[in-house]
Amino acid sequence: MKILVVGGGGREHAIVRKLLESPKVEKLYCAPGNGGISCDAECVDIKAMDIDGVVRFAKENEIDLVFVAPDDPLAAGMVDAVEAAGIKAFGPNAAAAVIEASKVFSKDLMKKYNIPTAGYDVFDNSKDAIAFIEKNDTYPIVVKADGLALGKGVIIAQNFQEAENAVHSIMEDKVFGASGNQIVVEEFLTGPEVSVLAFTDGKTLVPMVSSKDHKRALDNDEGLNTGGMGTISPNPFYDDNMAKECYDTIFAPTMEAMNKEGRPFKGCLYFGLMLTPKGPKVIEYNARFGDPETQVVLPRLKTDLVDIIVACADGTLSDVDIQWSDETAACVVMASGGYPGAYQKGIEICGLDDQGQVDGATVYHAGTVKKDGKFYTNGGRVLGVTAMGKDLEEALSKAYAAVERISFAGAHYRRDIGKIKA
Ligand code: AMP
Ligand code: GLY
Repeated sequence: MKILVVGGGGREHAIVRKLLESPKVEKLYCAPGNGGISCDAECVDIKAMDIDGVVRFAKENEIDLVFVAPDDPLAAGMVDAVEAAGIKAFGPNAAAAVIEASKVFSKDLMKKYNIPTAGYDVFDNSKDAIAFIEKNDTYPIVVKADGLALGKGVIIAQNFQEAENAVHSIMEDKVFGASGNQIVVEEFLTGPEVSVLAFTDGKTLVPMVSSKDHKRALDNDEGLNTGGMGTISPNPFYDDNMAKECYDTIFAPTMEAMNKEGRPFKGCLYFGLMLTPKGPKVIEYNARFGDPETQVVLPRLKTDLVDIIVACADGTLSDVDIQWSDETAACVVMASGGYPGAYQKGIEICGLDDQGQVDGATVYHAGTVKKDGKFYTNGGRVLGVTAMGKDLEEALSKAYAAVERISFAGAHYRRDIGKIKA
């Protein structure tokens, strides 16, 4: 098969690497890809949001399947366009991707179908939202922009002033643009967070192994929220009993709810869960693989990923037996100095071999470019250094040993990935 992966981050590098293990892959392209991906697949200069460009390339190059990895092209209908051109796609269509693209949609879906989530109210003007927050008078309280906001649209306000500021900046200053036309004001939940990605064709849903993200920029969960600074899989808080409860109360009901709404979901459905004292609840849905969850989940996949994604596209997922390795995986993200704020690009990365790798780990490239055989930084999250081990300790020590061998000016990474407190 000829496969085109759309996207250019660490998640896409992990997808490309796993696809390359398949004997069924004859040729792999990635649009636009990055420096590390260019060592594994042919990168094509088409932006991830360029729907016409992707469809044209797929037709001209007789692509058999387009794997759309990031949220915005999914929400914008890239899968719809690829399928309309008669080409298979992995990922939800726009009608189903709304489960991530609109928090108002996802909250209303959960309420309608009794899927456990934080209590909430929706507002389309700041005056009513602020009046509600004042009357409710319980803190912390969570304020969320309705639409996509690069993972930054959630504000946990510790007091009235912070909540009021959040409402103003989202709804009036429009810091997230039209994503802030509506907001969700939500009850604050506590408990360990778990990410569970699932393959689904709309009829069958198969959860992948669990993972844990570390979203804050600094050790001890301090600093700003980021796209994710590191991950481990499995998540130590998620056992078989919890998996069964989540399947019965959250995963299967969500798939069925989308079918009842006439928005069958196929692709990867991501459940962001919080294991609260009152049971597991949904914090968010994503319509795609997580980043950097993918970097620890896919390395553990033993089944041919091509068989799975074709089955998701064809509606035959129940025929595939999906197997996982018992090993633990850990990923440490090396970020540019300043991230998630402003940062410099174009800094040379030292310690990588000519394939962008180091011994003892797999280096998934996120924000890198390759020029004249050298790698340079080109984004906030630069590398996701992943290792597998018989247990968490071994995976972490291998991942950190590899991180120590890589350097670039200003690099920062968390030293406490996988060191989990309840
Ligand atoms: P989201 O973008 O929806 O994943 O939210 C980002 C982060 O905010 C989550 O990973 C949680 O840590 C936190 N968060 C979101 N909603 C809540 C909530 N209702 N209660 C507590 N924390 C939350
Ligand atoms: N790591 C969180 C996400 O992909 O949304």
